[in-house]
This record gives sequence, structure tokens and C-alpha cells, in this order.
Amino acid sequence: MNPMLKPDTFKLGIFSSNADGGSALTKVPERWKAGWDDILDAAQIADRAGIDFVLPIARWKGFGGETKAREHSFETFTFAAGLAAATSRIALFMTVHVPLVHPLYAAKALATVDHISHGRAGLNIVCGWNPDEFAMFGGKLVERPYDQAAEWADILFKLYNADAPLDFEGQYYTLHHAVTSPSSVQRPRPVTMNAAFGPPGRDFAARHCDFLFTTFTDIEAGKAQIADMQQRATLAGREMGVYTVAHVVCRETEKEARDYYQYYSVEQEDTGAVDYMMRQKQAFSRSHDEIAYRKYRQRFAAGTGTYPLVGTPEQIAGELVRMRQAGFEGSALTFVNYSQELPFFCERVLPLLEQAGIRAGVPA
Ligand SMILES: Cc1cc2nc3c(=O)[nH]c(=O)nc-3n(C[C@H](O)[C@H](O)[C@H](O)COP(=O)(O)O)c2cc1C
Repeated sequence: MNPMLKPDTFKLGIFSSNADGGSALTKVPERWKAGWDDILDAAQIADRAGIDFVLPIARWKGFGGETKAREHSFETFTFAAGLAAATSRIALFMTVHVPLVHPLYAAKALATVDHISHGRAGLNIVCGWNPDEFAMFGGKLVERPYDQAAEWADILFKLYNADAPLDFEGQYYTLHHAVTSPSSVQRPRPVTMNAAFGPPGRDFAARHCDFLFTTFTDIEAGKAQIADMQQRATLAGREMGVYTVAHVVCRETEKEARDYYQYYSVEQEDTGAVDYMMRQKQAFSRSHDEIAYRKYRQRFAAGTGTYPLVGTPEQIAGELVRMRQAGFEGSALTFVNYSQELPFFCERVLPLLEQAGIRAGVPA
């Protein structure tokens, strides 16, 4: 079974390990370089420990700055295919830009990974937000991205379940006698999420996806977002889960964790990259609550504006339990250096989550 479908468990994943810096914008020498061997090592550590998923970002252009943050990143279909062949339990997402990838191509590539992984593939749909990135393709941001995404998803899911070649005439796509074989292993399609924050993205997720993948600034705001999402899902006549994302600094003592957090994300922030990313995101995306830009610059340097989990194993487990109690289905996590920091996290935090009853142990 795809681990994303396990009932009654707070799912955990690793996010953005395919890209330089992970989710941090820092100059520290141990920052994530996203070399393939390290990525594979981190994914295998996570797989053995029972972490549920690997979720890459889709990035074509970096954020500049001293480190040229995120300029180096691996494409996500091929990234997932590589990991699928070298892991045994963990779900492997592909993050796909609707405006840049044709749905027929996506259907074929996603099914390929679903076969290599024996049903562990996941699709994370993104509409994108950075016009500089779209300009590299000679394109612009789409005016109503979720209208296009609705057609895109409709085509992809129809292709997997059609018993005759598909003819499709839409506003964005025209397909004549389209087929894709093999279909996906997971039926009727692989686990699907949409990464978004704003209302159009939430409505798209409610109508077409299994999960929304979103950011939040504090637990109370997260609860309100989940309630809002559930309302949209009910209106669409569907059930939905909400995933989120957090950056982690887990150390033996709170002081060690806080000192390191201050060091990598304040003293050693990559200022040029943080300025660029915050400016572009605020201008062109709705990925975050507006308050995040005003109040939480450190969170952008530390983890692209995501929620901080900084402290001892007990403190971090406590926060993850609060996230579960707020109603989140799971969380993707990032680290300054995944392969160095995951073993301590898995060894010390996961058992506490089992004791708290929000996760089960790893089957033999
Ligand atoms: C948790 C999260 C992860 C995202 N990951 C990516 C990504 O990997 N690549 C990308 O171009 N956009 C990414 N986005 C941005 C979305 O593609 C979307 O365009 C953006 O959130 C625009 O505003 P919306 O949230 O209202 O759709 C992400 C957004 C969220 C909330």
C-alpha cells in the first residue's frame, strides 16, 4: 500500500532534498548540496526508519544570492524514478508544473514511476509562481492557473481510466485519440496532492486531489485553514486531508538547537537569496499568509517561510502532536543537512510519536 494511505497515522516526509540548500537559504558550509549520493543516503535512512514520503520541489531557476540557492536541483520524475529503484517502502512524489508539462507526458512518466515503485508514486501538482522561471521557457504566468490545472488533471485521470482512446477539446488542451499505456498501478490513479495556499488552489484541491499541501504560521491559523479546506471539500462532495511543511533543528538541548538556528538562519543567511525569494513570492504567489512576510523573515532564511520545529526531541515531538491534534494529516520536513540530521531525528523523535499514539512502529 502507498504509505500515504495508511489510516490513523500522522505521516512524515522529507521535502526539497532534490534542491541545493533544501529549504534553507544559508551560507553555512554544511548546507545541503543536493548531490545524488547524499540524496539517496537520506532517502534510504528515511525508508528504513518508516518515514512515509519523499517530496521534491519543482525548481528551474534559483534565487541567486551568494550561494545561487536552488539553482542546482534535480528534475522530479527522474529523481523519483531513481529513488523508486533504491527504496522499498517510502512513497515517492513528483512535483509537476502544470503550465510547463503536458498532461499526456505527465501521465506516462508518473505511471512509469508507479510501476518501478510498485504503487508508491505520488503526484504533487503545482501551478508555479516565479515569472523569471517561466520566462526561461518563453512563457508567462497563466492568468487563471487553476482553470488550466483542472483541465490538466481531468485529462491525466481520464487517460488512466479510459477504455477507448481519448478525444479532448478544452480551453488549454486538445487531444486526438490519446492513449497512455501502461496505466498507473494505483487505481484509479496515484495519490495526488496540490501545493497551494490561496482559495483557488484550495478549491482545485477539493475537486481534484486527495490532499492539499500548504503552509501555516501558527497552530491556530492552521486549524482555521483545515476547517476552511474541509468546508470546500464538503461542497465538492469529497473528503480531503491537509498536509503541511516544517523545518527542523533537533538537538539534545534546547540551547544547542536555538544557537544553531540563530547561526544558520540569521548570522549566516544568504541575504541576496532571501531578498529575492521573499520579493518574488510576495509579488507573484499566494503560498503564504501575508503576515509571514512581515513577521517571519528568519523563517524564510531557515526554511522558505515554513513552520519552525526547533528544540529537543521531546519539544519537537510535542509540536508534531499539536499539529496532529489541529487536524493535519501529516507534515513534510526539511533539515539543513538531511543525511547528517535524519538519524538523530528518527532515533529520538519517532519513538516519542509512537508513545503519543500518533504513529505506529516500523514493520519488520
Ligand atoms: C507547500 C507548498 C509547496 C510548493 N512547492 C512549489 C514548488 O515546488 N515549485 C513551485 O514552482 N511552486 C511551488 N509552490 C507554489 C504553488 O505552485 C502555487 O503557485 C503558489 O502557492 C501560488 O499561490 P496559491 O497557493 O494560491 O496557488 C508551493 C506552494 C506551497 C504552499
